[in-house]
Amino acid sequence: MEVIIRPDKASATELVAKLISNALIEKPDLVLGLATGNTMEPLYARLAEMHKKERLDFSLCRTFNLDEYVGLPAENKNSYRHYMNEHLFKKINIDIRNTHLPSGTAKDLDKECEKYEHKIKKCDGIDLQLLGIGKSGHIGFNEPLSAFFSRTRVKALTPTTITQNSPLFDRPRDMPKRAITMGVGTILEAKRIVTLVLGTSKSDILAKSVEGPVTSMVSATALQLHPKCVVISDEKAAAKLKGKDYYKWIFENEPEWEEYR
Ligand code: F6R
Repeated sequence: MEVIIRPDKASATELVAKLISNALIEKPDLVLGLATGNTMEPLYARLAEMHKKERLDFSLCRTFNLDEYVGLPAENKNSYRHYMNEHLFKKINIDIRNTHLPSGTAKDLDKECEKYEHKIKKCDGIDLQLLGIGKSGHIGFNEPLSAFFSRTRVKALTPTTITQNSPLFDRPRDMPKRAITMGVGTILEAKRIVTLVLGTSKSDILAKSVEGPVTSMVSATALQLHPKCVVISDEKAAAKLKGKDYYKWIFENEPEWEEYR
């Protein structure tokens, strides 16, 4: 795992946008794993801008989102399908048939999860998986005690996640309490992982995720096991990291990061 600390939200977001655009230029039919949430909104706005101003081409790109609420149809404005359409897909030249999210309204949810895994395999797996980290330490909706070998399945959400996300609903009590999520095992199979974590409210969970012991109590600690995972944060989220100076030295000195400095 590598940790990159940028001075603020904008520069951390810009770095992630550049990593994604470079990956897409290198492989136009990139299989991109996507996340939703507040952290991703400025990132998707920036990718849309890159499409408009720099002609970043998504025409062959294929996407798989991490998760979807159980019970919310695509048209519901709190569904993640709706979020993705509004924040990204409508603003770029992606073929909507190449965008995938699990259906939270499938009659047989277990079958829907199996089908989702199958679709990912048919595309030869995810090339680049984008992640955020929730206050409960979740990646996707893998709440504490999710098995590190888990696959796409239905998970009950924790009170921490319900508190984090329910303000986004007109009536907070309408937030579904279950979601379909790729498993930790599914996520760890991505060829490369880019995790974006921003703001003071994430400083405790970021320190636990990156420098704490690997434990299924904090699903994001599983990222320490991935051979090609970078966590990009701003100074505020990085405030409680013990190895801050070393991580900064890496960004300033490693040739891999030269073009991003
Ligand atoms: C949602 C997802 C979640 C979020 C996490 C952080 O698709 O994957 O794991 O990334 O809850 O959400 P924000 O960015 O709203 O703090």
